[in-house]
Amino acid sequence: MNLYLMLKQIRRLSWLRHLGLGLVVCALMISLSSFRVNSQTPQVLKVATEPTFPPFEMQSEDGSGLQGFDIDIMNAIGEAMGVTIQFEGLPFDGIIPALQSNTIDAAISGITITSARAQSVGFSSPYFKAGLAIAVQENNTDIESFDDLTNKRIAVQIGTTGAMEANKIPNATTTEFDSAVLALQELVNGKVDAVVNDGPVTLFAIKEAGLKGVKVVGELVTEEFYGIALPKNSPNRQLINYGLFTILENGAYQSIYQKWFAGEPLQLPLIAPAMEGAAQELATSIQQQQPQQSVFIQLLTRLPQGALLTVLLTTFSVFFGMIGGSLIAFALISPNKLLRTICQIYVEFFRGTPMLVQLFIIYFGLPALFQNLGIQWSLDRFPAAIIALSLNVAAYLAEIIRGGIQSIDQGQWEACQSLGMSPIQTMQDVIFPQAFRRILPPLGNEFITLIKDTSLTAVIGFVELFRQGQLIVASTYQAFEVYIVVALFYLLLTSSSSFLFKYLEKQMNPLSKIKKSA
Ligand code: ARG
Repeated sequence: MNLYLMLKQIRRLSWLRHLGLGLVVCALMISLSSFRVNSQTPQVLKVATEPTFPPFEMQSEDGSGLQGFDIDIMNAIGEAMGVTIQFEGLPFDGIIPALQSNTIDAAISGITITSARAQSVGFSSPYFKAGLAIAVQENNTDIESFDDLTNKRIAVQIGTTGAMEANKIPNATTTEFDSAVLALQELVNGKVDAVVNDGPVTLFAIKEAGLKGVKVVGELVTEEFYGIALPKNSPNRQLINYGLFTILENGAYQSIYQKWFAGEPLQLPLIAPAMEGAAQELATSIQQQQPQQSVFIQLLTRLPQGALLTVLLTTFSVFFGMIGGSLIAFALISPNKLLRTICQIYVEFFRGTPMLVQLFIIYFGLPALFQNLGIQWSLDRFPAAIIALSLNVAAYLAEIIRGGIQSIDQGQWEACQSLGMSPIQTMQDVIFPQAFRRILPPLGNEFITLIKDTSLTAVIGFVELFRQGQLIVASTYQAFEVYIVVALFYLLLTSSSSFLFKYLEKQMNPLSKIKKSA
């Protein structure tokens, strides 16, 4: 190759060099910035919180940021430590996995220090004393203590100490929601008999936030201490404890306490009782060996149950969605303008709004509306989920079916008419069977999408496949392993359905029938 050609070649490659150089610089910057975060004195501390837990953490009224006891305490600790606190919202059951993976530096979220949690994360010294309280409807007289909860329906927040306690009650049905607020809403709507939640939070909801029709009964069920959670062996632990002791000394803690709670702060121990004693440590180390095995067993027993519910939910919803979708499709091509317009609005609404919002409207919204009107009406989770999903699927399928029907040659209608067939007969015997074959592939797509979308019903406490996974993580803190297995289960469901639909398509192909009979 001559020199000229070689130079040309090299020049052509120069953009590649630039790109390479750029990538190296980026990588360097990223590693330097992470080095800064991990070094002994961080400048910014990324602190996670689940901000639907007033008065500890909540969105400020004007929506501009976070506020609450925990937020003030953390900011004051940050100030004493000389670092800036950067808050990050996370679901409560995602906090411990996030600490384990070091995606956050710390978490303050009314987190109770428990010996089980201390196996997976570190804790600061206690900064607040709380305990679980039982809430019931105002007119309820048969629940007065924890023992009365046997055989009862209980709502809790997922991954909390409330959930752990409720799960110990014999024969009680526990439903786990993403936030304490939703659990309380469930109680207001009369779908459960009680809520087990942190006392100060439930009391705040009743006294300050105006939650109606609910009261707290009996004594506090537990004595708990909140701590700031950190990744295990985090270098920031000492610093945070230093910050906490500083604000306890200099009066900042006291004034924050008085801002959010009446009265004097309760005495705090240096170490939470849950963490005290050698016996505790022995128990902890014994427990440490169990999770591995129990995760495996839980995955094997609970995920298939969840998968079965996912399949049931999908099948029912596609079945009803198919009926509704066909009716709407016929209405969409009918000569009646009013009917057409109504159905178009329906399709626009259900395709144009998130399924999650529809689910919330049907499950939480409608019963609350009826309640306000003085009518006691509510829906169970399963029918509510099926209704929400079917209404949504019907909107999508209506368009698919309409498209399928309209794709059949107009001449066939005329041919049938000249044979003396009625329009209904024509649709039933000639048009629809052909259209159905054409809509099978998009129907299969819809089915697969729905299998995945059923995971949304977890927010109303429905224990399908994804929620089963979340529940296992909430008690084992092994997020990666569990969610990978959950994903594999979904993959198994979606790939078997696509296989099934391909098979159906082949079966319905007239050519394959001819081949078979030949
Ligand atoms: N103290 C309870 C626990 O640690 C509940 C905390 C819930 N916190 C929240 N921000 N939602 O389990």
